[in-house]
Amino acid sequence: MTDKKITIKDGQSDNEIDLPVIDSILGPNVVDMRSLEKNLGYLSHDPGFMSTSSCESKITFIDGNEGKLWYRGYPIEELAENSSFLETAYLLLYGNLPKINDLKSFSRDICNSYDVDNSIKNIIEVFDIDSHPMAIMTACLTYLSAKYHSDLDIKNKTYRYNSTINLIASVPIMAAWILNFIHKKEFENPNKNLSIAENFISMSFPNISDDQKKLSSKAMDIIFLLHADHEQNASTSTVRLSGSSETSPYAAIAAGISTLWGPTHGGANEAVINMLEEIKNSDKDVEHYINMAKDKENPFRLMGFGHRIYKNYDPRAKIIQKIAHEYLKKLDEQNPNKPLFDIAMKLEKYALEDDYFVSRKLYPNVDFYSGIVLKAIGIPQSMYTVIFALARTVGWAAHWNEMIEDTNFKIGRPRQLYTGKSKTSYKKIEDR
Ligand code: CMC
Repeated sequence: MTDKKITIKDGQSDNEIDLPVIDSILGPNVVDMRSLEKNLGYLSHDPGFMSTSSCESKITFIDGNEGKLWYRGYPIEELAENSSFLETAYLLLYGNLPKINDLKSFSRDICNSYDVDNSIKNIIEVFDIDSHPMAIMTACLTYLSAKYHSDLDIKNKTYRYNSTINLIASVPIMAAWILNFIHKKEFENPNKNLSIAENFISMSFPNISDDQKKLSSKAMDIIFLLHADHEQNASTSTVRLSGSSETSPYAAIAAGISTLWGPTHGGANEAVINMLEEIKNSDKDVEHYINMAKDKENPFRLMGFGHRIYKNYDPRAKIIQKIAHEYLKKLDEQNPNKPLFDIAMKLEKYALEDDYFVSRKLYPNVDFYSGIVLKAIGIPQSMYTVIFALARTVGWAAHWNEMIEDTNFKIGRPRQLYTGKSKTSYKKIEDR
């Protein structure tokens, strides 16, 4: 807190109050509105939280204009180049890069928790084969919240550590089991000697070659790392709000998964593949679709281009672009998805050179490339958001821990601008 302040004057009553300004380390400073109602009788109104900071956080910093994404101060580019999903998970959760022994024991604890309750398999099998995997995943989390309910003790550090580890280890296993179910295959068992990404690939695609497993696990590990956190987005804010009632972390993360499921949050990479399929199956060429996207009379937009926050290149897109190009180069000409990827590469080229896209800074976003890589690995489209949830469980858990550990932590309780009827007297049904 500094002596900086913002003065608000009520034009009607002439009352005036000073609201303290809190300096941020990076990004805009904030006005502390907590005394607004008490001292001036007003609430602040900001639907969609477009200019509201909902909490204090040390985890992730984003500067959309500059195209910066930092986890605990470390640029995402450096982490993607040098780190792993597991090490990055440790960093997001505990605030610093682990020493060798810290990483060993963190990794051991995660691998020991791969031992997910087999009853989860029965839960998965209850669903129809075409049920959305995000609904199945939410049910799995709900099962875990019931299973671990008697131990619930969120104020206890050991409980928080164990439930965090259990969540990060279990969600990938359950995701692989959901994929086994969708593929109508036997449920595969996890291997405690493999990393999260290796395990996910080996369980999901047991019959591919070792080389293919290696290539896919490497791409997957980076996709997980890139999606591990993105500060106070809708699902993370949901986990915080839900967790603020002191509910089980498994239940809070189930709420986050439900939020992520929506097409305007986690579903964009699925939309990219749908668009590529549409272009492939039509008799029109790529240029036709580029022109449709540029035509103001036409609602069509190029899926996977543009971003609400990043008005510069999404730093995650640059990293995954490289992986997508490397991965696609290794695919042989016979691959049934080759025509789809050729369309994607043509779209990318057009959009990066066309003045409409260049002048509006409509770069390909992370979803454009992650959709392509996931498709190339062989993941069905309906599972893309589950992959996102698997990775984001780390970020959700980090935010949940940060919130519970905050000594000022309170249950979240937004207020409202009431625009309904004023007091109305009840009328008997025959008098209405
Ligand atoms: N194709 C064609 N034109 C576009 C596109 C697009 N994908 N995106 C924006 N524009 C145009 C838009 O018509 C507008 O033009 P003008 O200034 O002439 O009116 C200009 O670019 C600015 O667009 P905007 O709608 O003000 O930008 P926004 O910040 O509101 O929208 C967006 C961001 C992501 C919703 C939008 O770019 C879009 O719909 N993209 C396609 C869907 C997509 O890929 N979504 C995933 C985003 S990443 C999700 C995540 O990280 O969680």
